[in-house]
Amino acid sequence: MRGRLILIEGLDRSGKSTQAEILANRLNGQLFKFPDRSTPIGEIINKFLTDPTFELSDESVHLLFSANRWEKAAQLNKLLSEGTHVIMDRYVYSGIAYSLAKDKSRDVEWLYGPDVGLPKPDLTFFLTVSMEELGTRKGWGEERYEKEQFQLKVKECFLKVLRVDTDPTIEIVDVNGLSIDETTLKLWSIIEARGL
Ligand code: TMP
Ligand code: MG
Repeated sequence: MRGRLILIEGLDRSGKSTQAEILANRLNGQLFKFPDRSTPIGEIINKFLTDPTFELSDESVHLLFSANRWEKAAQLNKLLSEGTHVIMDRYVYSGIAYSLAKDKSRDVEWLYGPDVGLPKPDLTFFLTVSMEELGTRKGWGEERYEKEQFQLKVKECFLKVLRVDTDPTIEIVDVNGLSIDETTLKLWSIIEARGL
């Protein structure tokens, strides 16, 4: 049987990475994280995120994030076809939402273009946390994009891009005020209820 691809999306510091790691262990699956900063393209992305003096056009950044996913696509497909579950920390929706937040007049079809053909998640969680709580979390504000005004735009764009009304694979999960364990419990109950 094909492995399941479960994706966790959310704003910066919303707890995605912690939960992805926990779920990967529980499901005895593999953890994928995007951007993957260890690849050749990932190194450029890391420089862009951590060095405010390093400028790239919005289009270039968008295409680099997508190319970073394609660097891992063959490995991802192989694991899934072998029956390994994959838990993913960010993916295509982050790509669209962050680029759209920079320029809301951007053609969404253009934004989706480079990601067409990547494996689709069986389930996508979008974790929502209040901006107040995010601001108190460790490391907030260190990287490009970690600014409250921008994150508010990103949230709006995520909610626009995630077609929760028509796409049954999307689950928006409010984790505000929940502990790590309580959040895991909530996500796990959804995975179980869906028989994944
Ligand atoms: P991270 O904090 O999850 O490592 O992600 C680094 C930043 O990159 C985060 O602010 C979200 C952003 N991002 C994009 O802009 N486009 C993408 O395609 C991805 C995967 C992340
Ligand atoms: Mg971050």
